[in-house]
Amino acid sequence: MFSPQGQSLINYNTFGIDVHADSFSTVSNLADVQAAMAFSNESGKKLRVLGGGSNILLTKNLKDLIIHNAFMGIETVSETDENITLKIGAGENWHHTVLHCVGCGYAGLENLSLIPGNVGASPIQNIGAYGVEVKDRITEVETIDLQTGEVNVFANEECKFAYRDSIFKSVFPGRYMVKSVSFRLDKTNHKLLTHYGSIAEELQAMGIENPTIKDLSNAVIAIRQSKLPDPKKLGNSGSFFKNPIVSSETAKTLLTSFPEAPNYPAGNHVKLAAGWLIEQCGWKGKVVGHCGVHAKQALVLVNYGGATGQEIYDLSTDVLASVKAKFGIDLEREVNVW
Ligand code: EPU
Repeated sequence: MFSPQGQSLINYNTFGIDVHADSFSTVSNLADVQAAMAFSNESGKKLRVLGGGSNILLTKNLKDLIIHNAFMGIETVSETDENITLKIGAGENWHHTVLHCVGCGYAGLENLSLIPGNVGASPIQNIGAYGVEVKDRITEVETIDLQTGEVNVFANEECKFAYRDSIFKSVFPGRYMVKSVSFRLDKTNHKLLTHYGSIAEELQAMGIENPTIKDLSNAVIAIRQSKLPDPKKLGNSGSFFKNPIVSSETAKTLLTSFPEAPNYPAGNHVKLAAGWLIEQCGWKGKVVGHCGVHAKQALVLVNYGGATGQEIYDLSTDVLASVKAKFGIDLEREVNVW
């Protein structure tokens, strides 16, 4: 039910930052969202949607109307012997959804195990890990237009998916609230992607020769647990920065001076590893006040307890400046800053 009240957002962001929202309500159906839109119009308060809070840095107390997306449910849209399309509520937890699919023997999302956050955020920034991006499996995204209150469905190609990007982020930020996301998954002929990073090594260490999707999910979970901090124990929002995509000339210049720099083809551009660039600037494991750069993965900023969002933002500004000074490369923040 829509019922706005003042409250701390400390339990609604994985950085664990304590800011106060003047007006906060959970919404779980269209009528709730329409009531929130009416309240926003009458009060003049800007409407903002908060999902799982795993890709956000809260830097100040908020006077806006914050609605927490809690559209739930998993339903089967269509099914053949080979595949199944599931429509999943935006408020469902991402990792639980992956485990549900893996448990049913539906393949396609297993490489995306243990990514924090909710289903609704997955198309907005086109989450990705270990050679898979969620766009590879999304058939459509059902949204509510926060200007008109209408339900709009975007087919995959209309979402303009790119690396950590979509039309919802690049063209219409804040306009569409995700209601549900539909995924097409394979019931048979599972194609397992094990070539990326240390997955093959991890499977070998687990003594597995012919992995199932459950084995692959377990390998990804083990790798992530070894490198990425658990937000329940150490506040963080996963990769704080995006891996920069640069022209082949820029990459060539960098590689002439730093031949060991990790780099990956990205169409006619080259993707560089922001974690490597940051580590080379001496940031890995550095503690600054209440926050710092994670000791096992330099792309991740962490809250050691009691950090303000501004403190973390200032640290990120210093990281950006030193990468620019040493390599001439502009990194971009991946997280949303409020
Ligand atoms: N590297 C370093 N130092 C570091 C971190 C990385 O030298 O501190 C080097 C690694 O040795 C490797 C390269 O950078 O050569 C790439 O590292 P890794 O495979 O760990 O992945 P990443 O590029 O740092 C991306 C995603 C992660 C995702 C992993 C695995 C982005 C911004 N990040 O990280 O996503 O889990 O690949 O696929 O694309 C997230 O978005 O929150 C996230 C964790």
